[in-house]
Amino acid sequence: MTYSPTRSIENTVAVITGASAGIGKAAAHALVAAGARVALGARRKDRLDALVESLGTDKAVAVAGDVREPGYNDALIAAAVDKWGHLDTVVANAGVGAYGGITDLDDEQIREMVDTNYLGTVWSVRAAVRQFRAQGDGGDVVIVSSVAGFRGGDDEAVYAGTKHAQVGLGGSLDRELRAEGIRVSLICPAGTSTEFALGTGRTEGSPELDAYLRPDDVAHAIVVTLEQPRSVRTTVWQLWSIEQPS
Ligand SMILES: NC(=O)c1ccc[n+]([C@@H]2O[C@H](COP(=O)([O-])OP(=O)(O)OC[C@H]3O[C@@H](n4cnc5c(N)ncnc54)[C@H](OP(=O)(O)O)[C@@H]3O)[C@@H](O)[C@H]2O)c1
Repeated sequence: MTYSPTRSIENTVAVITGASAGIGKAAAHALVAAGARVALGARRKDRLDALVESLGTDKAVAVAGDVREPGYNDALIAAAVDKWGHLDTVVANAGVGAYGGITDLDDEQIREMVDTNYLGTVWSVRAAVRQFRAQGDGGDVVIVSSVAGFRGGDDEAVYAGTKHAQVGLGGSLDRELRAEGIRVSLICPAGTSTEFALGTGRTEGSPELDAYLRPDDVAHAIVVTLEQPRSVRTTVWQLWSIEQPS
């Protein structure tokens, strides 16, 4: 018998947080290109509306809000289920980064990273898992963490801590949910050329960014992860561009 390495994600339904820019926006395009339908979250409604317009209102829906609010995440999942009657995937991608030493960051910068990157992931994944359990036929949880989830980095202790927390969450959820057919995958990119990467010392058009991953590279990894047969699961995928030292 011929081995069929992939499964189609055509007509599956995915919720993507942080879809107004960067990796989340690229993931929305890649999933729709692979035949999926997407419910998109982020705070900037104008950007989400423009993305829905370009993807097609039969393929995409948007609900603007703040991922730090548990109820907003419930509403985003509900919007997908209201429109298409099912949920197959959540991509917990929304994130923020502030660079600086532990005494350089202010209270709000620290709180925003923990509340968005870690708790925002918890709220969106919890809302999705509740829906998966109600449906009873498995599902996919994809968490966009980072290579900073596995090692420290210069001037990013708090950020790297939130990314380590996502890795701990994902690894533990894999143990908790596997028996229910719910796959949990950590997609962990190195520096990626998005607005997020335009931090200290890097500006739009900066040559350093040419060596970075492109948002489409990460989006492709998400699609490949989802297209694996349901008998296979990817727990961790670290991605680097060929020019980035590990
Ligand atoms: N770029 C990199 O170098 C890199 C490397 C490794 C991992 N990552 C991770 O990849 C993920 C996506 O980052 P990116 O590079 O694509 O950054 P980006 O271009 O800045 O996009 C971040 C997204 O998160 C959303 N977001 C931020 N705070 C939010 C909040 N409170 N509520 C709802 N949405 C919120 C933003 O939307 P609104 O502002 O419209 O709300 C935006 O859509 C993050 O988790 C990041 O940690 C990035």
